[in-house]
Amino acid sequence: MPEQRTSSCPILWLTGLSGAGKTTIGSALVKRLLLLGLTSVLVDGDELRQHLCQDLGFSAADRHENVRRGAAVAVLLARQGIIPVVAMISPYAEDRLTARRSAFPCRFIEVYIDTPLEVCRIRDPKRLYQRVSSGEITAFTGVSAPYEPPAEPELRIKTEEYAVDVAVERILTLVLG
Ligand code: ADX
Repeated sequence: MPEQRTSSCPILWLTGLSGAGKTTIGSALVKRLLLLGLTSVLVDGDELRQHLCQDLGFSAADRHENVRRGAAVAVLLARQGIIPVVAMISPYAEDRLTARRSAFPCRFIEVYIDTPLEVCRIRDPKRLYQRVSSGEITAFTGVSAPYEPPAEPELRIKTEEYAVDVAVERILTLVLG
């Protein structure tokens, strides 16, 4: 079984647009890590917003706070030797940098789930883009609210080019390599 050292316990941070595939890849990654005997937990933006972050909306200030809380949960887990796989849009580069800094001395692995807006729109797994088009949802990331793509992520996954299992293996190689 691979050794798990608290000091090097990685935080996997999946960022990208809504519908990019963060939760799908993140869940598959957690399963794969568990099969390898590594304890891992998915920290999913949608789930956090149902409880820990239910007081927050989608203004810039609320997203800053939302990402700060997600990072705090991740750091807490990582320091206990659990590998957090964070799946949050985390649209602002500055917030992701703050998360990275708060993770020290844990490794912070930023994975950009790079799916173009038009593809997310077509996939529309939660029918949210449809509701954005009808004007029911405002300030939607990538449409009417900003998304700042990572300039230098540790890894970029173009989901149009890689199947989920290939994406997972690429991330795993980086984590275990
Ligand atoms: S973040 O921007 O603060 O990082 P987070 O990842 O927690 O966002 O939550 C995003 C999820 O909230 C989306 O996947 C989607 O299901 C839902 N959502 C609802 N309204 C919005 C919106 N205006 N912008 C983005 N996501 C939204």
